[in-house]
Amino acid sequence: MSAFEVVATLAEFGDSDRLSVDYDDRAVLIFRVEGRYYAVEDLCSHDGQPLTDGQVVGHALECPRHGARFDLRTGKALCMPAIEPIPVYGVRVEGSQVLLGPAADALPGSGVGTPGTAESTLPIASATGQCVVPPLPPEATSGVDPGRSDAVDEGQMLEALRGVIDPELLINIVDLGLIYAINLEEQVAKVEMTLTSPACPAGPQLVQQSKQALERLPGISTAEIKLVLSPPWSPARMTDEARDKLGIF
Ligand code: FES
Repeated sequence: MSAFEVVATLAEFGDSDRLSVDYDDRAVLIFRVEGRYYAVEDLCSHDGQPLTDGQVVGHALECPRHGARFDLRTGKALCMPAIEPIPVYGVRVEGSQVLLGPAADALPGSGVGTPGTAESTLPIASATGQCVVPPLPPEATSGVDPGRSDAVDEGQMLEALRGVIDPELLINIVDLGLIYAINLEEQVAKVEMTLTSPACPAGPQLVQQSKQALERLPGISTAEIKLVLSPPWSPARMTDEARDKLGIF
């Protein structure tokens, strides 16, 4: 017999897309996405932080701590720095009541509501399984007036790149000293950047987010990001503020 139990009512969602409940002695988040409901444990598999305030894009939930993303439907980790999945639960809605139970006993798609909508999402993984990073939030281009149509200068490009945060060190890539060169040639931004180590697992994510951040600026049609490993990065390239944050004197 299924162990589904009532954990909430639909009215408790109010206007929100999520609801925190206790189930099986665990904190669980129930999400409402396109009329369907999904439940995941409120615990990031990367470093055990709550996912309560994470942004949802399509069916991807982003950890607010270091930016890992998880598929709400399967719990699968979609982006570094998380590798392990998070637990998912089955959701049923009966009348006005919301019930949780084992994922294996869930209705198809784990959600309820309008059939056939579960796959109408933003792409979150390519055919090769490589993570596709959803667009950066608007604040990633803070300091830049989106209404401008003239060409941007180097300062504005660097300001946009300050919206790209190294997920391990939690410091933006400009203040980390990862940007070696930047210029704009006929609406093509050309950037040379490095990584804190050649094996940095966040490298592809940082490159892709840098490209997105620049291509959102007016006057830039394409951003070409070239990774260079020489000269190698060292903490001496960081700003004083970044060094302070990391406790390096
Ligand atoms: S705690 Fe979630 S990504 Fe690090």
